[in-house]
Amino acid sequence: MSSYTPSQAAALRRSADLEAEIQRGPAAFRILTGDRPTGRLHVGHLLGSLRNRVRLQNLGVEVIVLVADYQVLTDRRAGPDLTDTIRGQVADYLAAGIDPDRSLIFAHSAVPQIAELMLSFLALVTDAELHRNPTVKAEIEATGRPPNGLLLTYPVHQAADILFCHANLVPVGLDQLPHLELTRLVARRFNAQYGPLFPVPDPLLSATPLLPGLDGTKMSKSRGNAIALAATDDETARLIRRAPTDAERLITYEPVRRPGVATLLDLLAAARGEPPPAVAEQIGAGGAARLKGELTEAMNEALRPLRARRRELAGQPGYLDEVLRHGNARAREIAADTLRGVHCALGLPPT
Ligand code: TRP
Repeated sequence: MSSYTPSQAAALRRSADLEAEIQRGPAAFRILTGDRPTGRLHVGHLLGSLRNRVRLQNLGVEVIVLVADYQVLTDRRAGPDLTDTIRGQVADYLAAGIDPDRSLIFAHSAVPQIAELMLSFLALVTDAELHRNPTVKAEIEATGRPPNGLLLTYPVHQAADILFCHANLVPVGLDQLPHLELTRLVARRFNAQYGPLFPVPDPLLSATPLLPGLDGTKMSKSRGNAIALAATDDETARLIRRAPTDAERLITYEPVRRPGVATLLDLLAAARGEPPPAVAEQIGAGGAARLKGELTEAMNEALRPLRARRRELAGQPGYLDEVLRHGNARAREIAADTLRGVHCALGLPPT
């Protein structure tokens, strides 16, 4: 078990209260969440966040999903593949159960008002506040290069993503908590200096812990250790076959001593909805081969309906583009409205 910092523990307690409030009155909430289109979404996204978004949508919460394409530029070059990646991400969302008739899907790049909103927000934070964000620090370290200006400031951009549509709830993993803190700071400072315009949004932490990738490090599109939602059964089998384990025959759940085996057990446990030690006992003397065989089967089985829907959607690129066009147009309307309010609050001439 990982231990939590005091602010993480407080956010977890607050999230439990929020869950109860959502059950009582889902219509009081507007959610904004999103993902960077840096590759295909994977099982970690599905179990960690997509499933939760769909659940909230189905409870009657208003859900807005962002394809954070400009955020790709924080640590890599964009390229000609980006359009396809974005279309694939929209397909992943729909296949996972995001309903475009109830929820909005849009992309940063189609809503320039968000970038404009970021300008006045940048003026509300100090250079030191930007530099002390632990998630940004870790990301700077991971790139191994001097950070570009967007990597340092994207949490402010993210504040604009959230506040442009007056979202009051943001489902996040622990790594995104510092960004949410900054969003809350920006909202409070804006309201204090220019009048009450923005809600101060709450993070909603999911109870599901972060799933590891097949090699035990964080599941990630770029590390090649993730089972993509769009992967075929054979690709899934190949990835799992290659996952590192150890030479001990008896399968036991010992995350520290046997990280490779524990990772596979975590994934199988998540797919079956059972605790990892119980799953380990069922495999027992079957060894790593049996563990991998059962994991492959469980993953492919669990993903079968989603993958079928996704294949169907992938054959309708015109429909995917239409869903995004519709979401973009609506997001632009909302953003233009917010920006009018901001101009007025700042004393800028009306546009
Ligand atoms: N940073 C998020 C990620 O790593 C993506 C994102 C961009 C986001 N803007 C957001 C998430 C606003 C929540 C709210 O995937």
